[in-house]
Amino acid sequence: MNSSLVFRMCNRLVLPSMVARGYAYKTIKRPDPKTLKMPSPASAPSIMDIIKEKIRLNGPITVAEYMHIVITNPTEGYYMKKEVIGESGDFVTSPEITQLFGEILAIWFCAETQKMGPSKPLQIVELGPGKGTLLLDVLRVLNRLGYKGSDVSLHLVEISTTMQAIQANRLCMSHRPVDIDMPHNHEGETVSGIKVYWYNDLKKVPNAFSWYIAHEFFDVLPIHKFEKTDKGWRELLIDLDKNNKLYYRISGEETQSVKMLVRPPLDSGDRTELEISARGLGVARQLAQRVDEFGGLALIADYGHEGEKGDTFRVCIFYICL
Ligand SMILES: C[S@@+](CC[C@H](N)C(=O)[O-])C[C@H]1O[C@@H](n2cnc3c(N)ncnc32)[C@H](O)[C@@H]1O
Repeated sequence: MNSSLVFRMCNRLVLPSMVARGYAYKTIKRPDPKTLKMPSPASAPSIMDIIKEKIRLNGPITVAEYMHIVITNPTEGYYMKKEVIGESGDFVTSPEITQLFGEILAIWFCAETQKMGPSKPLQIVELGPGKGTLLLDVLRVLNRLGYKGSDVSLHLVEISTTMQAIQANRLCMSHRPVDIDMPHNHEGETVSGIKVYWYNDLKKVPNAFSWYIAHEFFDVLPIHKFEKTDKGWRELLIDLDKNNKLYYRISGEETQSVKMLVRPPLDSGDRTELEISARGLGVARQLAQRVDEFGGLALIADYGHEGEKGDTFRVCIFYICL
């Protein structure tokens, strides 16, 4: 069959249907996102099923992808299910041990801000605010220093709705979810009239002079794990074995993450293991840009080592066979 004949036959089949479609447009009614309901937790697939399905479909996943699913899954994610901070939880943090911690940080922020000139109105932005205790301690100091409700606003970047509810109940006199079109997803007021806003991403927080606090936040962000092999740096991946169990394997080739993240001076010296958070680097860059452009101060506190440790990945390890 020659090509012009094929073309004519195709035209006969395709063109009439194209014309018909041209006259057959009709408005499709899409569901209003505001009325969409989340599946009930009981009907949602388990985290393990989600991870295994992803590996079956796309091949081994990075430790960062694994962490992202395990931490942020809306129904079963680590911070979504229960209160994990405090005596009845899995760990305790400095603000939960003594109010002095938050109060000292507040005094440091005030002292540094005074050197810069007028600081009202002031936005306080906390990343991963846990139970909201640190902010309560900061507000106590600001109250003593004469800040009024209209001088300050609180902006909480929180991924977990469970933690968000705990924060709202402790900080606010009243609070409510807001329209889906707004940059924040929840808002409220403290007893002294300070406005409080919740976001799922730092990018959505208004650009203004701010105090940024990230206490034990960066260490929950997903990390990529790398190992030095005879062939150079390779990434640690999570795969499924023939018994349908998760296990670690080393990538055969340099992954994209190796090319982008393993750079001097990190890759030099005697180190044979590296843990790098691309998300953490992104958030740190955003903080630096915001302070640079709009003014303010950022205080990041985490507890770790000075580069001498290799493997520090502990969260949810029980899912993976080692
Ligand atoms: C280890 S806790 C620290 C809590 C608090 N800063 C403290 O010192 O008590 C980590 C907090 O970050 C939140 N979180 C985890 N991943 C997050 C993400 N990707 N974005 C925003 N918040 C996150 C958790 O829900 C929790 O509130």
